[in-house]
Amino acid sequence: MRPTDRPDDPDHDLDLTRRGALGVGGVAAAVLASPAARAESPAQAAPVTARAFGADLVVRPIVNGEAVEAGIDVRTSLLDMLRETLKLTGAKKGCDHGQCGACTVHVDGRRVVSCLTLAAKVDGRAVTTIEGVADGDRLHPMQQAFIDHDALQCGYCTPGQIMAAIACVGEGNATSPESIREYMSGNICRCGAYVGIVAAIEDVARQGGRG
Ligand code: FES
Ligand code: FES
Repeated sequence: MRPTDRPDDPDHDLDLTRRGALGVGGVAAAVLASPAARAESPAQAAPVTARAFGADLVVRPIVNGEAVEAGIDVRTSLLDMLRETLKLTGAKKGCDHGQCGACTVHVDGRRVVSCLTLAAKVDGRAVTTIEGVADGDRLHPMQQAFIDHDALQCGYCTPGQIMAAIACVGEGNATSPESIREYMSGNICRCGAYVGIVAAIEDVARQGGRG
């Protein structure tokens, strides 16, 4: 089990199908979405406001480099705020219980399962989702490696897998297939695309790729 993706960790405080990989399909749009489509640069980003009906708390995180403001119920999870309020549907809801990793995003550069993270906790913090990892039209190396290594089938788990994989490399834990499997063990793939996922991560790590 990864050590840093659980809210109870003291340090926590804090359809990509093959078709989709080629840019066709709804999930692909989420996985491959360019941040440029949302903001040209953090400095140029205009605040985005998304208030939910019945909101009783306003949080102002920096999401994919863009200052946003979201009105939420205090009980709202980060995952629900991203998907329902901010309409960033790349992070997927698999189990909603912290067990599948489909909802993995980064908060202040560290991976978290967003279904078990309160949205209220990310006020003022940097949140990165799958929509924010590409560099303009250039895919993140991990996105490209997933495509190159056929690391996806239905693609439902893929956004979370990629976010966890980026973190795995960035943490320095992609040192062997065994270590990769251990530090990716919180991300479940019902299609069993694990061989390709490990190969993709090894590839990026071998290239000294960025996490
Ligand atoms: S949806 Fe969050 S871990 Fe499964
Ligand atoms: S590719 Fe289908 S769940 Fe992982």
